[in-house]
Amino acid sequence: MSTPVTKKRVAILISGRGSNMVSLIEAGRAPDYPAEIVLVLSNRPDAAGLDRAREAGIPARAIDHKAFPDRARFDAALQAELDGAGIELIVLAGFMRILTDAFVEAWAGRMINIHPSLLPLFKGTHTHERALEAGVRLHGCTVHYVVPELDAGPIVAQAAVPVLPGDDADTLSARVIVQEHRLYPAALALIAGGGAALDGGRVRFSAQERDTGAAILSL
Ligand code: GAR
Repeated sequence: MSTPVTKKRVAILISGRGSNMVSLIEAGRAPDYPAEIVLVLSNRPDAAGLDRAREAGIPARAIDHKAFPDRARFDAALQAELDGAGIELIVLAGFMRILTDAFVEAWAGRMINIHPSLLPLFKGTHTHERALEAGVRLHGCTVHYVVPELDAGPIVAQAAVPVLPGDDADTLSARVIVQEHRLYPAALALIAGGGAALDGGRVRFSAQERDTGAAILSL
């Protein structure tokens, strides 16, 4: 009989539909997956993902940022929820709210984000439109550790997709999101299972990840 893995306790932060969240909740159900999603938080009470999380049996709460006078007090409310649930890792999945430097630094090496471009290209918003405008022929998504500078943290995993003649932002984003749903569970497994860690501003990968490149998805 194999020994069950110790699962890291993960919170997912969302602001919207939560399709990446769903892929992570599903991955977390596998007995040999090294993380489980135990809490979902949204800064927007109307985020569709909250109901999807509850339907999956995961506690899901809104912390409306509009109810707080400043970012620091909103982040303190987040922190209280995370402490209450014994969270070890934070996963940002379409969380569209800037966190304070103090919060980010408190979670250094324990908070990751997915961004819909091949970073360091196209930081910020409207990534698919900007990729089309730039005329790149490869686009994709990136999982990175969160640092105070937006979309600039050390890269854990990337997936590439082609940009095809005739693409618009909708067809391109539909191609990218399929890869996001594969990449994010792979990247979280790598981190929660000890295959990648933040070390002095760089990602240190295990020998197995160096050999297999399991967190690089390409054509
Ligand atoms: C995803 O495409 C994610 O990469 C992006 O928001 C979408 C959320 O979709 N995140 C960002 O742009 C972060 N800056 P989802 O709610 O269906 O997972």
